[in-house]
Amino acid sequence: MLKLGYVLLLVLGIVSCCSLHNVVPRADLEEAPYSVVATFEAGYEERVYPAKAWVCTAYVAAAEEDKEDETFNTLYRYINGTNEAAAAIPMTAPVTVEVVPQAGGLNSYTMCFFIAEDHQASPLQPTEQGVYLENRPEISVYTREFTEYALEAGWQLEADELRQLVAADGNSVVEDDLYRASYQPPFQFWDRRNEVWLIKA
Ligand SMILES: *[C@@H]1O[C@H](CO)[C@@H](O)[C@H](O)[C@H]1NC(C)=O
Repeated sequence: MLKLGYVLLLVLGIVSCCSLHNVVPRADLEEAPYSVVATFEAGYEERVYPAKAWVCTAYVAAAEEDKEDETFNTLYRYINGTNEAAAAIPMTAPVTVEVVPQAGGLNSYTMCFFIAEDHQASPLQPTEQGVYLENRPEISVYTREFTEYALEAGWQLEADELRQLVAADGNSVVEDDLYRASYQPPFQFWDRRNEVWLIKA
C-alpha cells in the first residue's frame, strides 16, 4: 500500500510538474484586438488590427536577439511604473517587433507593448529616454502561428515561407517591413505562440 502510494505520488508529481508548462505561460494577458477577415487553405489568415496606442522603443542590430532582452526590460519598466504617473499598468500580448532592413546587413527593430484598453484613451507618457507612444493606424496583415522558440534565422525562415504562400495566392504585401509578434516573454523557451505579420499592400 505504501509502495503504491509512492508510485502514485511520483506519477502525480510528474504530471503536475509538466502540465504546469501548459498552464503558466499563457497567463491571462489582455490581447490586442483584431478580426479575422479571411482564412486561406495554405494555412494562414488575413487579420485587421484596429488603430491603437502602443508603447515602443527601437534599436538597430544584426539580429533581434542582440538587444531583445534589454529592450523587453525597458518596456517592462514602463508598464511597471516608469511613466508620468509612476503607475503600474497591465502586461499585455503580443509584444510586436517591427523589422525594417537597413544598410550593411543591419535591421531596425521597433519593439512595442500594446497599451491595455483601460489606458487607450489617454496612455501614460513614458519617462525613460528612448521610450515613446505610437498611435499605430489600422493595419491588415497576413499571418499564421508557429510555436518554436525562434532566433533571427528562424524568424527570417518563417517570414520567407509565409511570403511564398501569400504570393502564391496572389496576395501582395509591403516590401521591407513586417512585424514579429510574440505572446510570451523572450526568456520563455517552451509553449510559445509566435507570428510573423506581413503587411497587406
Ligand atoms: C517593479 O516596480 C516595483 C515597485 O517600484 C519594484 O520593486 C520592482 O523591482 C519592479 N520590477 C521590475 C521587474 O522592474
